[in-house]
Amino acid sequence: MKVIAGNFKSNLTRKASIDYLNALNSKLDSVFDSRICNDKDIYIFPSNTSLVQNNYKYITLGAQNCNDSKSGAFTGETSLLHLEEFDIKTILIGHSERRNLFFENDDICARKFDYFKSKNFKIFYCIGESLEVRTSKKYLDFLESQLKVIDVDYKNLIIAYEPIWAIGTGLNATLEQISECVSHLRDMSNAPIVYGGSVNENNSSDILKISDGVLVGSASLDINKFYQIIKE
Ligand code: 13P
Repeated sequence: MKVIAGNFKSNLTRKASIDYLNALNSKLDSVFDSRICNDKDIYIFPSNTSLVQNNYKYITLGAQNCNDSKSGAFTGETSLLHLEEFDIKTILIGHSERRNLFFENDDICARKFDYFKSKNFKIFYCIGESLEVRTSKKYLDFLESQLKVIDVDYKNLIIAYEPIWAIGTGLNATLEQISECVSHLRDMSNAPIVYGGSVNENNSSDILKISDGVLVGSASLDINKFYQIIKE
């Protein structure tokens, strides 16, 4: 089973996201049907304002972020109530953009993890080192430290390894670099390990040979590229 996930980040309007989801679902339905989809878990994480009912045949919708609360006085936040409305049961936690731009440290990520674990969500828990940590050669220790705050035996966990220096830069990690980290993470957990960072339709098939899936940012915004990655 391979995980193919698209993270739209803060892109695409609600209408554009719905058009995309409908088009991708019918592409998968009409051309490949279950032969291509049975061994794949396909996820799309639209922006939270573009979430719709999670009832696509081939695609599972997830939230890019959510507050660890059912509802309440959290101005500007999305809460569990809003995800439940659409039957969303999948979430990204700890994306490096949340960590770096919105100051979500390990404690906050762990708190969110515990909350959504208690709700039985499928959790894509994102980890990854900066260029500085990569250069210091301490990246394996760093990845371990990011994981040690969560329950790595959680049955609905997917670990997303996304080196920060490879995100949105077009600079993707080499297969050797990915392989080294994936094997290290496999020693720590039985969860599937997916890779993210400048994945596109040209490099995805090689990356899929050494990982359990891919988490795609910019290339997922183009339906033809994302479809190509699914086919690969
Ligand atoms: P890019 O594919 O644009 O590098 O983004 C990766 C990512 O952050 C997916 O979560």
